[in-house]
Amino acid sequence: MIKNLDLSVELFGCMLKNPIILASGILGTTRNLLRMVSQNGAGAVTIKSISVDPRKGHPNPTVLAFGHGLINAVGYSNPGLEKAVQEFSDLHEIGCPVIGSIIGTCVEDFSRVAIEFDKLEFSALEVPLSCPHTPEYGKMGNQDNPDAVFRIVSAICSNTSKPLLVKVPPAANDLVEMALAAKAAGAYGITAVNTVGPGMLIDIDSGKPYLGFGMGGISGPAIKPLAVAAVFQLYKAVDMPIIGTGGVSTGRDVIEMIMAGASAVGIGTAVLSRGLSVFQEITEEIKQLLLERGVSSIADIRGLAHEV
Ligand SMILES: Cc1cc2nc3c(=O)[nH]c(=O)nc-3n(C[C@H](O)[C@H](O)[C@H](O)COP(=O)(O)O)c2cc1C
Repeated sequence: MIKNLDLSVELFGCMLKNPIILASGILGTTRNLLRMVSQNGAGAVTIKSISVDPRKGHPNPTVLAFGHGLINAVGYSNPGLEKAVQEFSDLHEIGCPVIGSIIGTCVEDFSRVAIEFDKLEFSALEVPLSCPHTPEYGKMGNQDNPDAVFRIVSAICSNTSKPLLVKVPPAANDLVEMALAAKAAGAYGITAVNTVGPGMLIDIDSGKPYLGFGMGGISGPAIKPLAVAAVFQLYKAVDMPIIGTGGVSTGRDVIEMIMAGASAVGIGTAVLSRGLSVFQEITEEIKQLLLERGVSSIADIRGLAHEV
């Protein structure tokens, strides 16, 4: 194990021991799973997104690995606000900062979840406004545009004093405008990006799409260039912390995101492809890469790709 290299980063008023954050939707369904991820070395963890009412999500199959990542149409299955408040009522044993994720179909929904989450020990909240495969939510709910971002973020921020991260899609024409609207409405930072899509894969034997819902969101290595470009564009245009997420599966990918301008990095699909040890392993990979380059702190390389 490489010692004496400080990977800690300050984010939403917390000190993270490293910049690696568990992305929403992967293992973040229970307190126990969050604790397990934390014990395996994550700097912070995000819970699976929660709506006011319980959601069954889309029919199976909901997730498919296709060689370059995953395509999923989980459809925001979750136990609803009441059960989530019970599950996440005591977070002190997790051992790292926990981010609460809020979804809704109208500002009233977002506000109701924000009011309850404000009472819990979440260090920050996150709102994804960019899911590409769930009717009435994200892209399919027309939430991925500057006006909707402003309305939703204003509603959440007027009901909580916790720092809010707004999760955006990649490759949108108005990506920067969305981030500026989020900032104007009181958001703390941006998570870039959500899954990309909608995408579809067809089973040529049955002649039908593989996923129960047909279309899904793409994650993993296939989307990394889109995510890096989104982080790069946002860093240049908006003065807010960015959590670079999308296709990160190695220490090298983390460094790339940070050079594009990310303050921290989210990991989802790689937890499924590399296992829970991914957090510890990536941390070691980052240390090795920094040592090889004579870099002593993450801050020294943040935004490096922007220097001419
Ligand atoms: C199976 C699965 C479920 C997901 N569920 C959520 C979710 O509930 N809320 C959310 O904001 N993002 C969700 N995401 C998106 C991830 O948090 C992340 O933004 C995306 O997968 C890109 O990162 P990755 O390439 O590291 O997976 C989900 C992704 C996957 C693969």
